[in-house]
Amino acid sequence: MKLLFIGDIVGQPGRHAVKELLPKLREQHELDFVVANGENSAGGSGITPKTAGEIFAAGVDVITSGDHLWDQKEVMELLVGEKRFLRPLNYPTGTPGQGSGLYEIQNSKSKIKNSIGILNVQGRTFMQPPLEHPFLLAAEEVKRLRERAKIIFVDFHAEATSEKIAFGRFLDGQVSAVVGTHTHVQTADEQIFRGGTAYLSDAGFTGPHESVLGREIEPIIQRFLTGMPQRFEVARERVILHGALIEIDDASGRALKIQRVAETV
Ligand SMILES: [Fe+2]
Ligand SMILES: [Fe+2]
Repeated sequence: MKLLFIGDIVGQPGRHAVKELLPKLREQHELDFVVANGENSAGGSGITPKTAGEIFAAGVDVITSGDHLWDQKEVMELLVGEKRFLRPLNYPTGTPGQGSGLYEIQNSKSKIKNSIGILNVQGRTFMQPPLEHPFLLAAEEVKRLRERAKIIFVDFHAEATSEKIAFGRFLDGQVSAVVGTHTHVQTADEQIFRGGTAYLSDAGFTGPHESVLGREIEPIIQRFLTGMPQRFEVARERVILHGALIEIDDASGRALKIQRVAETV
């Protein structure tokens, strides 16, 4: 099966990019499942039922999130009622929402039905808020998911490449793929580990790249120059969809191929 993961969708330009490009990518690559990180989809900060609705309507099957989870209060509606929306798994017990989900897929070629597990975890190095142990909780959750699904995809939302690589290596052989998000900068270290897990430290972001990580350039420079708070508006130009395309052997869940994606609108 073929899975596309889309890096952090930033604001209206990011949502527009998904709407514009995903149907074409679905057809071109015969995609069976699409996961996208939506933590910046509402004005660059957080996610609402409306922005999530647009992303689902564009053809995304599951939306993951990260540290911007709480930026829009309407997120509660998604956490409580939307099975296709995931928050980082390692929030303390009692936090609304879910960190993983099992979904049905049908291979577009063989027509064989299968289950896929999606997991969203947040790192702890240089990250706020400090959450529960990502490695230990992910290992437990993967074990649980593997009873029902061989194909498992993990979005590891984290800052430090060392933590991301260690996390990917830790899960090698247990999941089909670990792809990082959060830095908004696509890395060039895509590979398949020895145990069969596809890995990429960061998928990048989907939105305006004539920017600083999706925001207007000048206020960010001013913030660094003066330390004064600024309004960081979402930028508008050079919109690119960033992500990773992963081919997985349906029967074993092992990754066969991983390829970075960068599609200009
Ligand atoms: Fe982000
Ligand atoms: Fe983030």
